[in-house]
Amino acid sequence: MFKKTTLLTLGATIFFTLSACDAGDLFSMPQDKETAPVNTTGNEQNEQTTDNKEEKEDVITLPQGLLQKGDQGNDIESLQKALNELDYNLEETSQFDDKTTWAITDFQFQIDGLDITGIYDDKTKLALEAQFESDNQVKPGDGLPLQKTTETDDGIEVTGNPYEVLVLVNKEHALPDDFTPDDLVIPNVRFPFTEDLPKKQMRKVAADALEEMFDAADDKGLELFAQSGFRSFDRQEEIFAANVEKNGEEAANKYSARPGESEHQSGLTMDVTSADVGFDLIIDFGETPEGKWIEKHASDYGFIIRYPEGKEDITKYQYEPWHLRYVGEKAAKDIMDKSITFEEYLENL
Ligand code: DAL
Ligand code: ZN
Repeated sequence: MFKKTTLLTLGATIFFTLSACDAGDLFSMPQDKETAPVNTTGNEQNEQTTDNKEEKEDVITLPQGLLQKGDQGNDIESLQKALNELDYNLEETSQFDDKTTWAITDFQFQIDGLDITGIYDDKTKLALEAQFESDNQVKPGDGLPLQKTTETDDGIEVTGNPYEVLVLVNKEHALPDDFTPDDLVIPNVRFPFTEDLPKKQMRKVAADALEEMFDAADDKGLELFAQSGFRSFDRQEEIFAANVEKNGEEAANKYSARPGESEHQSGLTMDVTSADVGFDLIIDFGETPEGKWIEKHASDYGFIIRYPEGKEDITKYQYEPWHLRYVGEKAAKDIMDKSITFEEYLENL
């Protein structure tokens, strides 16, 4: 779609946002996509003359830094314009909304080596720039088809984008029954068992973060163990049925999710434990040196304690100091620093 070509002659009046111009690289939004030149080199625009003000073209910036759902402002509008140049057909609302999240997720799917998160980051920025500098290969929807949120007969919302790392999964928000993440890997961490079970897996982005977190704990002489990560819908169905059999449905659902409603199906969760509690998943884990370290440091690696103590009325699950959910560093810090739940964080975006 775009041709690699010479720099534009741009006047100062055409800059889309001044603050954004300082922060990122520029490219033009020409009227004729087939023939117009593209500028992705922010520095060189300073050398442009300013005497050609008739040559009116919007210039937008690929913003720098992390941008994600809930963010708003000129940077988001610039990002939406850039995505629209790739035919994403977004409303340029300046709000990082669900459709923008989908566009980023879909784009990341189509570029080798990008984490699939729905979060705009430096690597995604570079990959977008590369699209504008060469023939664009990305086709909206080819990675992750655009799907609306649907509703089950019981009134539970089923997300259309199970790949965004800020996906809400709880008793009112489910994953599609047939969802199994494409990018599951086994993190290179300690497990209290040796078999290669599916529950060792996590999505790549979360597995990388888990490895970093385990390494950091190791450095402090703490031995974390990963007990249970990804579970398919069918596996969760078996587990939930067994728990209902044992304790009855109401009691079971205080600690065990119905199929479709478990974060373990997202591939973004790992239950962690330690030798002090016999590798069990029990509340005492929170009092072990490993559990205390997790409480303090999990957010440095993008994880939250998803079901905190005292928030059972919001999460609808009992305290689980072992259940770590990857949400990315920015959200994790916000959530853990403010001692809020993921539900409260998303509500306040
Ligand atoms: N223990 C959590 C709630 C789950 O079953 O996903
Ligand atoms: Zn869990």
